[in-house]
Amino acid sequence: MNTTWSDYIQGIPTLYESRRLRFSDAFAPQFKALFALDAEKPLKILEIGCGPGALCGALHRWYPQAEVTGLDRDSAFIRFAQEQEKGIRFLEGDAAALPFADNSFDVTISNTVAEHIEPSAFYGEQRRVLKPGGICLVLSSRKSISRKPAYMKDNAPEKAFWEKADGYDDAVAAYEICKYPMSESELPAAMENYGFSDVAPGYAVVHLTPDHPAVSAKVAHEIINADRHGTLDAVDSAVHALPGRFSEEEIDAVKRSIHQKYDRRIAQYDRGEKQWDTLVSVIMVVRGRK
Ligand SMILES: C[S@@+](CC[C@H](N)C(=O)[O-])C[C@H]1O[C@@H](n2cnc3c(N)ncnc32)[C@H](O)[C@@H]1O
Repeated sequence: MNTTWSDYIQGIPTLYESRRLRFSDAFAPQFKALFALDAEKPLKILEIGCGPGALCGALHRWYPQAEVTGLDRDSAFIRFAQEQEKGIRFLEGDAAALPFADNSFDVTISNTVAEHIEPSAFYGEQRRVLKPGGICLVLSSRKSISRKPAYMKDNAPEKAFWEKADGYDDAVAAYEICKYPMSESELPAAMENYGFSDVAPGYAVVHLTPDHPAVSAKVAHEIINADRHGTLDAVDSAVHALPGRFSEEEIDAVKRSIHQKYDRRIAQYDRGEKQWDTLVSVIMVVRGRK
């Protein structure tokens, strides 16, 4: 059972909640325009490195005729996705040795996965399982803008925690995360070099702004809480990666202080005190044809 990613790198709440917002229907027109898939066809779509399954869920909503499969090597993600996202097939597997026959999918897609897998295996395997004329879509996060009220920045207990977490980055680096980063020029070039044609890069802009009038109270709470869970998850990852470094009291103290500041933000939102905090992400989408 492999749970390395969910235990040490990004937990289920971090990935599931942030991706559910990123791939919410508010941003569907941008993504669907870039994917340029025929929504009327019964497409067979494979998501590589699907994590806890939020993008698979969006694909299932956006392409109701399609048969969606999600694959990841982290068993905790796959178990969670199977329980959470219905109507989708999820399975454990290695992107570098896909457990599928040649020419079996119309579309392969991945979000923030390409940079972690050796490119000849990453593209070669997708090319092998795609039908002739099939579409490969590679999504990756690029720039982001983050603005928060001053009290949301690291507070004293968080600062103390992260100072004591010295060595955490090295512990995570041992898992070879982001071993194959590519620039906005290198990514389409790699897709072409590994045999895809009609390669076309594009960009979607996702902005999460609780105080925006088009954002419902429910979604505003989800935006604030997704950030809360990402921050709590980072603490858990550091605790996991540095066994014996922190006492239970220290862990409780840092988590309590994190909850306090997000509770404060929620209370302000509920009172209508606007902060205009925002997270803007530029997502690159590269599309190529086999
Ligand atoms: C940054 S996460 C992105 C997860 C998901 N796509 C999302 O956006 O929420 C990278 C994912 O790639 C998966 N992964 C990394 N290498 C893999 C491999 N060789 N085979 C399958 N999955 C892999 C990890 O388990 C993790 O779920």
